[in-house]
Amino acid sequence: MTTTHHFDLLIIGSGTAGLTLALKMADQARVAVLSKSQLEEGASLYAQGGISVVLDKADSLQSHIDDTLRAGGGLCDEEVVRFTVEHARESIEWLIEQGVSFTRDDMITETYHLTQEGGHSHRRVIHSADATGRAVETTLLDKAKAHPNISLFPYHIGIDLITTRKHLATEQNSCLGCYVLDIKKDQPKTFLAPVTVLATGGAGKVYLYTSNPDVSTGDGIAMGWRAGCRIANMEFIQFHPTCLFHPKAKSFLISEALRGEGATLKLADGTRFMPAFHPQAELAPRDIVARAIDHEMKRLGQDCVYLDITHQSKEFITSHFPTIYKRCLKFGVDMAKEPIPVVPAAHYTCGGIMTDMRGRTDIDGLYAIGETAHTGLHGANRMASNSLLECLVFADAAANDIKKRPKTSLPADIPHWDESRVHPAKEAVAISHNWDELRRFMWDYVGIVRTTQRLNRARQRLSLLQQEIDEFYSQHHISNDLLELRNLADVAELIIESALQRKESRGLHYTLDFPETSEKSAQNTIIAEKKPT
Ligand code: FAD
Ligand code: SIN
Repeated sequence: MTTTHHFDLLIIGSGTAGLTLALKMADQARVAVLSKSQLEEGASLYAQGGISVVLDKADSLQSHIDDTLRAGGGLCDEEVVRFTVEHARESIEWLIEQGVSFTRDDMITETYHLTQEGGHSHRRVIHSADATGRAVETTLLDKAKAHPNISLFPYHIGIDLITTRKHLATEQNSCLGCYVLDIKKDQPKTFLAPVTVLATGGAGKVYLYTSNPDVSTGDGIAMGWRAGCRIANMEFIQFHPTCLFHPKAKSFLISEALRGEGATLKLADGTRFMPAFHPQAELAPRDIVARAIDHEMKRLGQDCVYLDITHQSKEFITSHFPTIYKRCLKFGVDMAKEPIPVVPAAHYTCGGIMTDMRGRTDIDGLYAIGETAHTGLHGANRMASNSLLECLVFADAAANDIKKRPKTSLPADIPHWDESRVHPAKEAVAISHNWDELRRFMWDYVGIVRTTQRLNRARQRLSLLQQEIDEFYSQHHISNDLLELRNLADVAELIIESALQRKESRGLHYTLDFPETSEKSAQNTIIAEKKPT
């Protein structure tokens, strides 16, 4: 017998976006928050640099808006950018009220230390040393654990959304909840709620090398697409220029804040190369720095480049970057004395489920917030530290909208998850093999520099993989790995199709076949809902 849970609000994802929304709703709704791993696991926990907010008197909201628009390569929605920037200060004040402790500049004046990152023309990134995400995530999680109206479900992975159109054959499409696998008990469950929110983070795991944690497999984007949402701008995958290059480091991020504090990028022989690529040198927007590194590595046949912050004192480095210092030392690099070997890796999914400024998607009763959503803030390239900000601002906007919704009751005849026609998988090797193959061809053919031929190659490989995955999925009992693989394949399809549609280079999408930006292509790439297979 399948267990059914009823809530007023179902939030899938316990990162910054999901927890912020849960806390903002919990005084007036019974809220369920699902996480497919430990509750704190997600990109939010690993965020380093900080959150952009205008606090310095020399800075201005207009300057933050202009920088975001410039980084976004002509595709940001200006109204969304303004809305986000204007709500930044109150979002930070809310975090401080919850107990997040940000690094102070000076204990006497009690001002906060602001760092600078790529694309920003001022110091405007508030942070908790180099572990801002950990400070935010653990504080919000402690608050959520203490709230009587919030029920937390770790190790529960959303399988597919339950919609009236698919499951009750109605014309109009409303979301009723989600089928969920309780991973520890290996048991499907039904979660029902009049409002469901996808807060499942990004999709960096679709690439072989990524700064993202294992949970970032684009599940929300894939679930939303299959349920009937439009997906925008998936070709714009951001590659962070500087991840630690070490066989055992699993792409540990070296924050852009190092460059904000004067670190320079060098070749193996010590030559600094960024000034030749952009007037802002190491603080140019990320797409430019990542491409310059890729270019230099390919030109010289080198495995990595080097990030040098040895001009700063050891005291400065260990107080501003304690996590990074310790992690590098663990791998034998003393960053106070020697340059750090670095490479680019997939970092952020700029596209996602299309939403309006209240987090509403194309499906009634379904919202999307955080990295899963495409709000229009980032355009063709997200500016550093605007992502945690987007999680906070849009969780708040969604909460305000959900509070105004009229109360509705759910239909009685919602079917349970049907497992009667499948049998246990005899061997998992097919899943792990397909995982590896998918991530490798995405890295090789759909990476920092693309061509139409490479994208077509990726499309062909993906089509074969999808046939196998669909066959496996329809015949076998579901597992966490199988669900993630199916979602990764959908996300890969969205990225490849979006990239093939864009016949120009812009922001994070660079193709040798169309190296110029074309004014007539200055529009979002929108992929309509997935056709059933
Ligand atoms: P996440 O924090 O990724 O949370 C996703 C949640 O969804 C998790 O709880 C996960 O378990 C759950 N989930 C996923 N799929 C399912 C499913 N099928 N069923 C149930 N649960 C599911 N941005 C900044 O603004 N500033 C920074 O300094 C910064 N540094 C970064 C450093 C690193 C190393 C990385 C990887 C990213 C960084 N970013 C930064 C980006 C930023 O951290 C993320 O965009 C942001 O944290 C995303 O938050 P989120 O709540 O949308 O998702
Ligand atoms: C970093 O600290 O470099 C990451 C910042 C971001 O991705 O916004």
